[in-house]
Amino acid sequence: MSSSNRTNIPNSLNEHWMPFTDNKNFKKNPRLITDAKGVYLTNHEGKKMIDASSGLFCNPLGHGRREITEAVSKQLDKLDYCQPFNQGFGGSFELATRIAKKTPEGINRIFYTICGSTAVETAIKIAIAYHRAKGDSKRFRFVGRERGYHGMNIGATTVGGMINNVKTFASVLMPGVQHMRHTHLPEHKFVKGQPETGVEMAEDLERIAMNFGGENIAACIVEPIAGSTGTLIPPKGYLKRLREICDKHGILLIFDEVITGWGRTGSAFASQEFGVKPDLMTMAKATTNGVVPMGVVAVKEEIYDTVLDSSSGAPDGTPELFHGYTYSGIPVAVAAALAVQDIFDKEDIFKRAKEMSPYFQDGLHSLKDLKEVVSIRGYGMMGGIEMKMKDKPGKSGFQTFKHCYDAGVNFKNTGDTLIIAPQFICEKKHIDEIIEKLRTGISNYSKS
Ligand SMILES: Cc1ncc(COP(=O)(O)O)c(C=O)c1O
Repeated sequence: MSSSNRTNIPNSLNEHWMPFTDNKNFKKNPRLITDAKGVYLTNHEGKKMIDASSGLFCNPLGHGRREITEAVSKQLDKLDYCQPFNQGFGGSFELATRIAKKTPEGINRIFYTICGSTAVETAIKIAIAYHRAKGDSKRFRFVGRERGYHGMNIGATTVGGMINNVKTFASVLMPGVQHMRHTHLPEHKFVKGQPETGVEMAEDLERIAMNFGGENIAACIVEPIAGSTGTLIPPKGYLKRLREICDKHGILLIFDEVITGWGRTGSAFASQEFGVKPDLMTMAKATTNGVVPMGVVAVKEEIYDTVLDSSSGAPDGTPELFHGYTYSGIPVAVAAALAVQDIFDKEDIFKRAKEMSPYFQDGLHSLKDLKEVVSIRGYGMMGGIEMKMKDKPGKSGFQTFKHCYDAGVNFKNTGDTLIIAPQFICEKKHIDEIIEKLRTGISNYSKS
């Protein structure tokens, strides 16, 4: 069917191999989204649902923002593409300046990628390039953390710590990667905000440094709040301790802020929220409000300078870093991201998220009494509701998701945890609606 007379319901679902999906099940009982506006989605049966996870954390500003659509369309009319290698266009520099105004001081050199995974892969490569530029080429090891999620290319899969993502691909993963234990401790059940206990989990990094030689480790990467495995909040003092251990051994600290970046915690970045500065940070998703793929790595100025200085003497036109993507900072993504920056500023959006978060967290924790709920965790405008495991991991999470979808609230489950992350434009009545529908969906699941 030509795109001009495309319908909401395709003739065949067979050919599209869907990502991270139970394809067989989905195709028997599809859930197709046809329209999105503000905080609401409509599916192919005409059912209206509230979007309780900002579309995988992508659209905190709401769906269908005219300012973004118009900026993208204007950009397409003027300059639809230009190659990003040894050429450029003004917008990407303007955007870099604006991003650097919001990142922690000194983390002000901006490398564009295509998505979160490529941002993580790029951060890994920059870490290696930096150490080599300093003459320290023995640092090849990386440290990740169990239950971490950093994306799905080989580098990001390796430093991630979710077993199902790794099992099939074990033979092709990066060598030299160790994992710290996660911080998902039994006493953190139903804890609101940062747990008081668990700071000692950071000593795993020291232990790995002792076992493998801190001088061999290039970088340690963590999500300040682990998002995909159900909102695991760092215990008080944990991130600070990681920073201290990294400094002691000359290890770079990478914060993966693909989820926590751009206001999810109530500050622009979790780094500022928790008062710990990494050396590199990654972002994606909300950078363009999800409408055009884009990833970003923000890098300490000293790292950039070191890599650039190390190539002096090379012939003109030689890249200092042999890395980049055809779609690094392309005009259409930049246009969307600049429009997003305008909205962030005009609507003081991070403040709005911060002000709404206690109301959201109270609502989330009000679900504590539900029968099958075994834990609730949350921070800022993100939260995880963990369901009691039934037979096998993931079964109760998915069944609950389906009951909630029927009740009119959409989100994503990871395993048995429901990932809830409302849009920052939500008013109290929208938060109430999310919580009410979650209550209905979870209760219906319990009765089923
Ligand atoms: C923390 C984190 N890092 C990286 C990624 C990968 O991003 P993408 O799917 O855009 O490649 C994700 C995706 O959810 C993420 O949550």
